[in-house]
Amino acid sequence: MIEVDVEEAYLLLHPRPVVLVVSLREGDSPNVMACSWITPVSEEPPYIALAMWRENYSYQLIMRNKEFTVNIPGCEHVNQVWIAGTRSGRKVDKAKILGFKFIKSSKLKTPYIDGCLAYLGCRLDKTVDIGEISLMIAEIVEAKARKDLLVRGKWNLKKAKVLQHLGGKVFTYSEKTLWPSK
Ligand SMILES: Cc1cc2nc3c(=O)[nH]c(=O)nc-3n(C[C@H](O)[C@H](O)[C@H](O)COP(=O)(O)O)c2cc1C
Repeated sequence: MIEVDVEEAYLLLHPRPVVLVVSLREGDSPNVMACSWITPVSEEPPYIALAMWRENYSYQLIMRNKEFTVNIPGCEHVNQVWIAGTRSGRKVDKAKILGFKFIKSSKLKTPYIDGCLAYLGCRLDKTVDIGEISLMIAEIVEAKARKDLLVRGKWNLKKAKVLQHLGGKVFTYSEKTLWPSK
């Protein structure tokens, strides 16, 4: 065993899925940010939480509109995820530079990114502040996934290359499924 800095211990909880969070700018054009600190928190009611740095433009937009969409990218989106996570929508129109097309949500004003593997439509319920981060706790009001990539509601990893973040500029995906024997 080696000592790990407690400030870097979070890396031991990676790899974890990285998603693209879409929120609405003024004039209702979409902004996109990368987010890997996102987790389910409750099945019933269906809630998720994401850790949002309050300096992000997305924080301001989600606090104003109280909604966002979670778009689950595949490996083919790795370059776009990196750009969405390293440029701010305050300075550039990321929807434009990333070349994304958007599709309407039936329940929210915020759209989804065309071509992702799955989508969650979320309404912000509450926030909890921890240092420079706000934990954004939100209800899932709509969810869709590509039918050909699921087996009984779970990812078929032979087909679905769900992008995961290892930390920094390193990404991965899993291909193997394991079943405990007992
Ligand atoms: C792979 C990856 C994962 C990220 N995860 C998060 C995250 O969980 N929470 C967060 O606040 N920022 C995260 N970021 C940083 C934001 O995406 C980044 O600050 C972005 O520029 C914010 O865009 P915005 O200002 O348009 O909202 C991540 C960046 C990358 C590259």
